[in-house]
Parts: sequence; structure tokens; C-alpha cells
Amino acid sequence: MKFGYFDDANKEYVITTPKTPYPWINYLGTQGFFSLISNTAGGYSFYKDARLRRITRYRYNNVPIDMGGRYFYINDNGTIWNPGWSPVKTELDEYECRHGMGYTKITGKKNDLKVNVTFFVPQDYDGEVQQVVLTNEGSAEKTFALFSFAEWCLWDAQDDSNNFQRNFSTGRVEVDGSVIYHKTEYRDRRNHFAFYSVNDSIDGYDTDRDSFIGLYNGFNNPEAVLAGKATNSFADGWAPIASHYKKITLKPGESKTLVFILGYVEMPQDQKFEADGKTINKVKAKAMIEKYSTPEKFEEGMKELRAYWNKLLSILSVTTPDDKVDRMVNIWNQYQCMVTFNLSRSASYFESGIGRGMGFRDSNQDVLGFVHQIPDRAKERIIDIASTQFPDGGCYHQYQPLTKKGNADIGGDFSDDPLWLILSVSAYIKETGDWGILDEMVPYDNDMSIAQTMLEHLKVSFYHIVNNLGPHGLPLAMRADWNDCINLSCFSDTPGESFQTYTNPKFAAEGGYSKVAESVMVAALFTYSGPNYVEILKHLGKDDEAAKAQAEIDKMKKNIMESAWDGDWFLRAYDANGEKMGSKECEEGQIFIEPQGFAIMSDVGKEQGADLKTLAAIDERLNTKYGLVLNNAAFTKYYIQYGEISTYPGGYKENAGIFTHNNAWIICAAAYAGQGDQAFKYYSEIAPAFTEETSDIHKTEPYVYGQMIGGKDAGSDIGQTGKNFGQGKNSWLTGTAAWNMVAISQYILGIQPDFDGLSINPSIPHEWDGFTAIRRYRGATYNITVKNPDHVCKGVASMEVNGKAVEGCIVPLTEGQKEYNVVVTMG
Ligand code: GLC
Ligand code: GLC
Repeated sequence: MKFGYFDDANKEYVITTPKTPYPWINYLGTQGFFSLISNTAGGYSFYKDARLRRITRYRYNNVPIDMGGRYFYINDNGTIWNPGWSPVKTELDEYECRHGMGYTKITGKKNDLKVNVTFFVPQDYDGEVQQVVLTNEGSAEKTFALFSFAEWCLWDAQDDSNNFQRNFSTGRVEVDGSVIYHKTEYRDRRNHFAFYSVNDSIDGYDTDRDSFIGLYNGFNNPEAVLAGKATNSFADGWAPIASHYKKITLKPGESKTLVFILGYVEMPQDQKFEADGKTINKVKAKAMIEKYSTPEKFEEGMKELRAYWNKLLSILSVTTPDDKVDRMVNIWNQYQCMVTFNLSRSASYFESGIGRGMGFRDSNQDVLGFVHQIPDRAKERIIDIASTQFPDGGCYHQYQPLTKKGNADIGGDFSDDPLWLILSVSAYIKETGDWGILDEMVPYDNDMSIAQTMLEHLKVSFYHIVNNLGPHGLPLAMRADWNDCINLSCFSDTPGESFQTYTNPKFAAEGGYSKVAESVMVAALFTYSGPNYVEILKHLGKDDEAAKAQAEIDKMKKNIMESAWDGDWFLRAYDANGEKMGSKECEEGQIFIEPQGFAIMSDVGKEQGADLKTLAAIDERLNTKYGLVLNNAAFTKYYIQYGEISTYPGGYKENAGIFTHNNAWIICAAAYAGQGDQAFKYYSEIAPAFTEETSDIHKTEPYVYGQMIGGKDAGSDIGQTGKNFGQGKNSWLTGTAAWNMVAISQYILGIQPDFDGLSINPSIPHEWDGFTAIRRYRGATYNITVKNPDHVCKGVASMEVNGKAVEGCIVPLTEGQKEYNVVVTMG
């Protein structure tokens, strides 16, 4: 069942009912000011950091769901309603929500009054602009009351939700004409304030929540709206809000357009106030309000936003035999990559904005799906991330975006972290050809006095693995590897201990974690990412160092085959007791997905057929119609030696859930191994455009990936196996966005940036006759035509560039050439 449809021409998803199976959201803003907005206008705004600079309040895990947002209320002679249906929930005569690239349009109609609201955050602008168009579509004149509503958060979202003995006494506002200013703590230690404006006169306002809503009422029945009139309340402590009230009369067919702005302003310390020393200096705010003060200016801003996205998305566009693929590649997957790049795992409807900042491994992987869009921003991000590394190659697991400092609460010792830096830096060079990034001086632990070149950072990353091997010559697992829930040094038996930060004191003498527990996932990631480091060294003429690094990779491959090959697939780990994890010998959790793809893609054991055997085992044991589960069999009891993974009921999250992030690695591996049909099958099991038809089962947005889908074991714990099989959770902020972008564009369609140029080597479903693509790359345009006359899955029989035959799969770079017409014939 569907709850809307894709409008590809407008690059929008159109939601046709407010009652989606879960709130379906969009993100506004790509630079500093961000808003989350659901299809019923719920959500919140923040500046740069969802925890430390929260602008409006949101209540997570509330009843009913999705409470709090920017709401417009209509009181039309006693009929109270919102254009987005919620929170009043009056049945509407018409409803539509269009989520587009950086904007959302919500339209509601009731009793002949149509209200269309467009929300967007303009480029280079710290505010959300909202245009409200009210149209009387009836045959009689209409007089009604319009109320806006926003609830201020007291900046630090964590403190806002727990420090009430203080917070209820600090709230402050200022009202100036039609503009309501929020200035809590502005007098003392903050140089920022927020405002909510409208470009017209108003008939009243409210700034105090209890006066507007009423202490015992809710968002669904605010007293002022019921009364049809604002109270002109002034907040002093308690909960400051901003609500405009306006009486409007419309003749039949007449429309009125209003522009509201929710803005954020920072002021220099010495210019914060007017001469009286307490009134906000509003010069900057007024300039912001002026910028979008008319519908024409609003349109101009929207036009710029559209142009911005059209340009970004034109860097890669494809036309394949499957319009679902086109819509993922050309629109939604790229869009999601921008969002994950910006927000890492901080703020979504599942991430509260106060939990995690930017993750070292997460953000490095996000770069892989984003780097082609704005390489300069990717470079800046890579440098920020690398700056939280330690001189020995280890690193902080997370950092706060506002301060860019490593997060000491979480610390380090996540064994996979350093390797992702090698991949992100390589991806940046492959995209841009800018080898200069290797010469950048990058601090360790944010300390510039001990800065080293980025190349040196790669070296310490690489050797951090080599220098931390266990008894089988495999990398130590440490506190966790990519899988945060495999915690082999934890042995936790006390509620509340964090699986990621707690390590059992019995390992204190060994340095905090077991020197026996080893990760095959990290071993395989090492053999996959390591060769990039070797190639970089060769390019720089450092052949001796390259040979030395290559020898380490070869040794690791040998160690994997000697100690981590289970006969039909690769083991997952050795636990702290030296026992195998992810082996046929295990009672549960016999096979895990994570190491397999990377091992296959680095040809580990290929001569013995390890790749094909592994792919067959994955298909047999892990695949389902909704994607590949992480492990099988699911754990049915707590294995203290494994940690968090066995705390989840079977079928959820890391315990045999369909963890979509690592599905991409198998898609890539199947494509790499020439199994284009299989790769595409796995891709279409999880790609949102393909799951749209089962939105009632899937629940979350059909235009973006979620982190997790309930696996085949979901419900087994309560004797209802399959109960929540196929149910998505944790949408938007997941490494799946970047990795599936890589999987479809670089492995299936095979358009892969390489150090020496663009490589084209597709691995597609054999029925496809081919496809075309346009790729802008290193300043040139590549018009690519792939033909598949023999209906193979993989293999380049010939390649022509601008009419000339070329050997191999890489389009040779010709200095100064602006256009490459590439014809690839498969066979
Ligand atoms: C979450 C984390 C990611 C981790 C994954 C598996 O998505 O953000 O860092 O790799 O879970 O545990
Ligand atoms: C939990 C989650 C995991 C996530 C981690 C982040 O363990 O299950 O997916 O990556 O928290 O700290």
C-alpha cells in the first residue's frame, strides 16, 4: 500500500494523506541553519549543532507521536483546523504534502478555504522562510482568524529537557511590531537570539505558552485559537513561544499571501544592544526579514534553491531501463547523502540531537556518497575528522560539530575507525585529482603544535591496525569494530553500563581491552582499504614504503585464510576466550554479513573459490525478500562475551535485523564478482523506491533509507516469528545512504572514479540492454552510453572515447578536454 507517489519531474515525493504509518520527514537547510519537518509540519530547527544550539523545542517519544512543530491554526467561525492536519486533526477536505529538495509544501483545504504553506531555508541564510497562501475558493466572503505558532527551546537541548528548576525562570522575549524575539540568556552569556516575523500587520500575539495553549490544554486545542483571539501575553520565565494572530477577510476567489520567517542571529559582543543597554540591536534581524519580505523575493529564493539542487544533481544522472533506479540515483539517494554528510547521526526522528555528534567512522563513510557533490566541503570535513585522531593512529570516536573537538565521554579504541579515513581521503583524490590534500598539515587531538601531514595521518591509520594484532595475526577487536554491538571486552552484567564505553576491569592490565579478541571485519576492511594507501604511496614515488605496506596486506590475507576461513564463509571474530564467532561450530550466530563483502572485494582466498562460496552462503542463509539479515541464526539469549548484539530480540538491529548499511557491501561484492543479477536483486530488496509499494509494512519514508528493517526473525521472541519482518526504523541518518550510492553508481552501474580517471565497468542485470549516464568529473562532462547486446551481467568488450577505441575500462584523461563521449559495449 502507498501513501503518496513520486513526482520525478519536480523531484518531489507527494504524500496524499496526513496519516502516514510514521511521520515522514524532510530536511530544510544544508549549511548552518537546519530544520526537520514532517508531513504534518512537526519538527524543529537548530543552528549547526542540534544539541548546543537548538532553536525550537521538540518532544521525542511523545504521545501522540510528533508533537511540536511550526503550526498554523485557522479558526473559521468555530471550525478549528491546521493545513497540515495535525495537531488539531480536524478532517480536511483536501490534503497534500510535497517534500522536495530542501523545501516542503503543505496544502490543506476546509470549508472552501485553501491554505498552502511552503517552508524552506534559503541558501546562505540562517532562517526558515514560510510562505502562507490563503485562498477563498468558495462563493461567499469569508472572515477567519489565522494563528502562527513556534515554541522556543532554551538553546541547549539537553539542559532544556532536564533543568526545569532553572529553565522555568529564565525565558525572555521582546516584541517589536510583527516580530517576536527570543532572547533567553542574551543579556548574559549568549551572543545569539532568534525571531519569528511576518511581513504584515498583526492583530495580536502571544509569547507565553500557558496563555496561548492553556495549562490543561494541548497543541490540539490552544485556548487562544478556540477563543478566536490572541491574548497579547508576554513571557517572563516559564515557556516562551511565538504566535502571531491576524484576522483576515477574503472575497470569493481572493487570495492573501503572508511570509513568515523564523530566524537566527549572532551579534558581535559590542553590538548586542541598543543604547539603553538592554534592547536587542535588531539591525541584522531586520536585514534578514527584509530579504524575504515579499512573495516576489520569496519566489526568487525558491528559484535559487531549485537552481542549486539542479546543478548539484546534474553531476551524476542516469537513464536506465528501471525508473526506480533513476529516481534513486538522480534524486533521492544523492539528496540523502547531502543530509547524512551534514548531520552524521545527530538529528532525525530517531536521533534526538543530544546523543551523538559527528562520528569518526560515520562521517568518513558519509564522504564516500557525497564527495562528488561538493568536493571542497568534503575536504574540509575530512580535515576536521582527521584532526580528532591521535598520534598513534587511534582516534576519538565522535566529535561535536560546534566545537569540532573530540568527545572525551566516548573516547576511542573503536578498532575500525582509522581505516575509514584511508577510504575517505582516497575517494576525495579519486574524485578531484587533488593530491594536495596529502600535504595539508592536520593536527592530532586538535593540537596544531603536533600537526602532521594528511599523508602521515594515513600512515598512522594503516599501522594502527598492523600494530594492534592478536594471536592469529588478525586485528584486535577493541571496544567495538564497525558493529557497535559486538563488544568483546565488555562482559557487562550490570544495568546501565554502556556497551560502547564500558570495558571489563579484568582487561585493565592489558590496556583496557582484550588482547585476544580479534575482528575479522577489521581484517577484511584492512585488505580492502589498504591497497588505496599503497597506490597513493606509489603515485608519490615512495615505492619502498608501498612495498612494505603491500607486504602487510598480503600477510593479513594469508592470516585470514589460515585462521578466519570457515570453509564456506569468513568468520566474524575470535572472542576474548579465543573462541570462534560466526562459525558453523557456533550454536547461534553462525554467519555474519560484515566481513564477507570486503573479503570478496579484496580477493581473499579467490584462488580457492572463497568469493563464490561466500556469496552462495550469504544468499542461502542471510537473504530475505526485504534484504539481507546481519547474522544467522539470531541470538536467543544473552552472550555476555559478545555484548550488546545479543541484548536485542532476534530480528532487530544488530541481532539479525536487516542492517541496510552492510547490505550495500554485499551488493558491491556481488557486482564485483560479476553477479549483476544478484547485486541488483539485493539492491531492489532495500532501495526505498522499490519498497514504496509496501509502505504499510515498511512504515518509514519511501524516499530514503533507514538504518534497519525488521529481519525474518522479528517477533520470534514472542512466538510470532515474522511479526515485524520488513518494518523499517531509524530512517534518514545511516551509512546506507553513502554506501548504497556507491553500490548502485560505482559497482552496479560501474561508473567509478579512480586515481587515474573515470573507470566504467558495469555489473548489471543481464536483461538490461544497457543504459546512459552523464557524469561531470574533474571539470569535464562524460556522456556515457553502455550497450549490452549479448545480455551479460559483467564484462567490457570494448570502449570508445570520442570515437577512438581505448584499452581497459578507464577513460584516459586528456588535458584540457571538456567533453568525453564514451561508448562501452559489454560482452
Ligand atoms: C550505527 C552507527 C554506526 C555503526 C552501526 C553498526 O549505524 O552509527 O557507527 O557502525 O550502527 O553498529
Ligand atoms: C547502539 C546501537 C548502534 C549504534 C550505537 C551508537 O549500540 O545499537 O546501532 O551505532 O548505539 O552508540
